[in-house]
Amino acid sequence: MDQFNKLIKPISLSNFGSKDVLPIVSITAATSILYASYQIFLSQKKVASKKIPIPGSSYPYVGHMLSLGELPGKTVAKWHEELGPIIKIRMGVQNWIMVNDPILAHKIFVVKGAETSHRPYNTYAHNSGALGEKGVAFAQPDSRWKENRAAALSVLAPKHIEKYIPYIHKEAKDLVTRFIESTEKEGSVDPFKHLELNSMNVITETSFSKRFDSVEDPEFIKLSSIVETTMLYCGAESDLANFLPIVSIYDYFFGNQADQKKFNLNERNPYLRSLVKEATYAKGPNVIKALEEGGFKLTDEELMALASDLIVAGTDTASITLAWNIAIMCHYPDIQRKVSAEIDQFIESNGRIPNFKEREQVPYCISVMKESMRYKPTTTFVYVDGYIIPKGASIVSSMESMHMNSDVYTESKKFSPERFLNNIKTMQSAANGKIEERDHFNFGWGRRICPAISLAETEIFAAFVQIFSRCFVEPTSDGLPDIENAVNSGITTAPVRYKVKFIKRKNSPMSQLNLNVF
Ligand code: HEM
Repeated sequence: MDQFNKLIKPISLSNFGSKDVLPIVSITAATSILYASYQIFLSQKKVASKKIPIPGSSYPYVGHMLSLGELPGKTVAKWHEELGPIIKIRMGVQNWIMVNDPILAHKIFVVKGAETSHRPYNTYAHNSGALGEKGVAFAQPDSRWKENRAAALSVLAPKHIEKYIPYIHKEAKDLVTRFIESTEKEGSVDPFKHLELNSMNVITETSFSKRFDSVEDPEFIKLSSIVETTMLYCGAESDLANFLPIVSIYDYFFGNQADQKKFNLNERNPYLRSLVKEATYAKGPNVIKALEEGGFKLTDEELMALASDLIVAGTDTASITLAWNIAIMCHYPDIQRKVSAEIDQFIESNGRIPNFKEREQVPYCISVMKESMRYKPTTTFVYVDGYIIPKGASIVSSMESMHMNSDVYTESKKFSPERFLNNIKTMQSAANGKIEERDHFNFGWGRRICPAISLAETEIFAAFVQIFSRCFVEPTSDGLPDIENAVNSGITTAPVRYKVKFIKRKNSPMSQLNLNVF
């Protein structure tokens, strides 16, 4: 009963605005928003069918929803270990097929991409949130989605992202200054809010030529709250009736959908409208202007929906990737020293910090960034030879289990950046190239693959080289950050909140440089 109460709790109005959501809710939220989850019907294929195994712990009506535990990624990984690369779970009235084998996932999402690029239905996301299935992230793959996605892919392509490199490096520089100053003032720092500001600024600056000065900036606080509320509404906690139709009675009494519409009309849409308008008249380059210059004719509502997609999809994903990276590095001081030595050498030869175009000159750093994303994937959770997938089932890539799959990664439980030293190509090209040459799977699959990989990896690179050229990251007297457990927060799996110390490296080559030179 306690479990059931916990399940119901997040749909009460008092919980809106809280990031403290349930595992079940998070796992479903994850799939509803971004994760690789699709509608597929391959049952017409004439193949000898194998039955997809179902884990044992399922209950009447709710199915496996209550068996996922506090850490759904780990529970699903355990089920894969016991039952193999493809399993079926029941989420209330929905069937989910979970896959942890990349080759299988590739066949489903890339080879069979035309049939596997639908998004599972979510009331808020598909109606008021995406302004009636507009934009990219929530729309079903119709001709309008194709046009919008082509536009997004074009303006977020690596050649466009190059224009933004100076802005991205400036944000990274400011981020590390804040880390050092807060450590010097307060003894330690909780990096999460600062990382959120960095990721938000990278998106608002590149998309709308707008940035926020500090974590206390009222406008940053406002946008941060809009993102948080949007993510919460897109999550299953606000849409449980989709899984458990009996719960629709709550919607009726509590008027959740009316609240969501009010939030859109009074708060989110006016803010998005003004962001898009300001971007059109701004001086510098930005994504909104690039769309117009590229001849993409998006309506006002399509532009607003795309703006929301970029901000919501790009803030937590990138900042949490960096939060994991910092937490992991704190555990591996020897790896930190090797990373810093490689960046120092570049600075000594070039008189400045490397930029993303020079990434091949710091191969160990690139390997560490890739290994961090494999070791602790930011995203949580795609037919298959010989198996029949039931029509209408959602197919989900089990991210944590896939990245720990020992058939894919030798000594998969070990943090070993060396495994990527021979694969330092960009994550953008690895993700869009041959399956055998993929480095990790954090950016998803096929026609729905993250369109902003280039922006994300440029941002991660800039922050990473700034941090380790200027600081040594140390634990506080409370101990090392917890990298065993995790918090499911909507679309991401984040580390448990922690504090660390960013100790300025006194005699580093970077300390001799004018910080305006990146
Ligand atoms: C480390 C950072 C990031 C990670 C790990 C990440 C991961 C993902 C994943 C897993 C998907 C779903 C792919 C699928 O369904 O197969 C996705 C989609 C998407 N991402 Fe990212 N992302 C990141 C950064 C960003 C940024 C910075 C932006 C925007 C500026 C962004 C915008 C989008 C959009 C708009 C979609 C929806 C694409 C569609 O449905 O067609 N992402 N991302």
